[in-house]
Amino acid sequence: MANTALITGASGGIGRDLAALHAQRGGDLVLVARRGDALQDVKHELEAKHHVTVHCIALDLIENDAPRQLFERVSALGLEIDVLINNAGFGGHGNFHERDWADDEAMIRLNVMALCEITHLFLKGMVARNRGRILNVASMAAFLPGPGMAVYYATKAFVASFSQAIAEELRKTNITVTTLCPGPVKTGFGERTNVSDVKGFQANVADSMDVARKGYEAMLKGKLVVTNDWKLSFLRKFVIPRTPMRLLLKVSRKTMEKG
Ligand SMILES: NC(=O)c1ccc[n+]([C@@H]2O[C@H](COP(=O)([O-])OP(=O)(O)OC[C@H]3O[C@@H](n4cnc5c(N)ncnc54)[C@H](OP(=O)(O)O)[C@@H]3O)[C@@H](O)[C@H]2O)c1
Repeated sequence: MANTALITGASGGIGRDLAALHAQRGGDLVLVARRGDALQDVKHELEAKHHVTVHCIALDLIENDAPRQLFERVSALGLEIDVLINNAGFGGHGNFHERDWADDEAMIRLNVMALCEITHLFLKGMVARNRGRILNVASMAAFLPGPGMAVYYATKAFVASFSQAIAEELRKTNITVTTLCPGPVKTGFGERTNVSDVKGFQANVADSMDVARKGYEAMLKGKLVVTNDWKLSFLRKFVIPRTPMRLLLKVSRKTMEKG
């Protein structure tokens, strides 16, 4: 049976590792990101190693009509998407009022709008076939406000809330929606988001492949939410919900300081 996964943000980091995991299982791929040359590298590597078919679609998902363009290009290839992995995303550091609005707007467009519209477009086919797996990449940032990274944390709270809600809407179908919520991971994210020297980003930085594997396996099992290690899971389930908000904000702000 065909098993084609569409992965956004597959030119590097967690997305590239998720693509490798899917190819290892013999699944074909549609890879999306802006850097077409980097996508081609992934394609050549995975096709040679795993004898799968990999399609590359170079697209800036911040553009208004990008999700629709993506859907049309996948349809033109005659492909049905069995696995949808919404992974592309970025963050930004600094007090909200001091940040460039264009950067935060782009972040909301990618992390929230594109993820939502892509899900809407591809979910319809999954529902018609009554089959599919969705993995949305959020973050531990989904579970508390992030002073110093306010918009990023809020976008990830959106992803976790949205994903869990549609998982419940789809509960009586053969479609599952899993939310991956990693802590810090060693990828290009640290540099792009300007958080490599932020305190909370320096401790317990996870390996990208380990995180991808946790997410991919949880997706195959149809789990609702997964973090990449038990300490984060403990924080999410037991510490964060029991901590008074003022204290949580203070601690969260501290972890966002540089140095
Ligand atoms: N690394 C962490 O510490 C961490 C922790 C928690 C959650 N996450 C989340 O994990 C996901 C993957 O991040 P990562 O750590 O793997 O970061 P990364 O190495 O920076 O990878 C981000 C991916 O998204 C793509 N991308 C960025 N902007 C795009 C755009 N406008 N249109 C299309 N694709 C775009 C990038 O490709 P191009 O540059 O080629 O477009 C790249 O493939 C993100 O959603 C991030 O928020 C990361």
